[in-house]
Amino acid sequence: MRKKIVAGNWKMNNNKRETAELIQALKPLNFSTDLRVMVAPAFTHLVQAEELTQGSRIEVLAQNMNAAESGAFTGEISAAMLSSIGIQKVILGHSERRAYYNETDASLKGKVTTALSHDMEIVFCFGEELDQRKSGSHFEVVKTQLETALFDLSPEQWSKIILAYEPVWAIGTGETASPEQAQEMHAYIRSLIASKYDQTLADSISILYGGSIKPANASAIFSQSDVDGGLIGGAALKAEDFSAIIQSA
Ligand code: PGA
Repeated sequence: MRKKIVAGNWKMNNNKRETAELIQALKPLNFSTDLRVMVAPAFTHLVQAEELTQGSRIEVLAQNMNAAESGAFTGEISAAMLSSIGIQKVILGHSERRAYYNETDASLKGKVTTALSHDMEIVFCFGEELDQRKSGSHFEVVKTQLETALFDLSPEQWSKIILAYEPVWAIGTGETASPEQAQEMHAYIRSLIASKYDQTLADSISILYGGSIKPANASAIFSQSDVDGGLIGGAALKAEDFSAIIQSA
């Protein structure tokens, strides 16, 4: 059965010392064996994070990677580089990558293929923008995102996929989808997987919600039957808030 997951996406925040302090503050936390806790520091701090989390159940993931195996891609990081420092998980398709670095579902498909060929687990982000929600096309948008990037995968490959539904209008805006809106979309996503594959596979996939989750709203969202945890941005930067969110899962 699928596990609950709370993942902190630290984005381009925290220097080396701040990253270490945050990890040290999170390490003593006790959380259920049914829950996985992950943190995504900047590339420069991954080695340190991997070392500091040894002996704890906190898992470290990268925020991005390049689709190519190696080569002339100045400033980029490959799956093999991540693997070589013990990082076997990566966030792909975050809306900031889509908005500022032109990532598309088609290009993300390449990244997914490469990550899977390195046996990496993927937190795949997707979600509609505000005008798409307002015009009522949000279900169609999400369907296309998933179909383009992920629906060529084999059932076996899906064991490496964690979905993160992140409505763009809720990211860093303080505006959260209501628990009902999150549940409605998550149930829809699960039904899409069930009709493309089967119900057993659909029921095995963790679908996280992301977008302005805070200690005050986490438990209402996490208690929805198709919401399996969250991808947390701003609130994951404060140990106290992130700990409270973890305890709500
Ligand atoms: P937020 O970010 O929690 O600050 O809205 C979520 C995310 O970008 O994953």
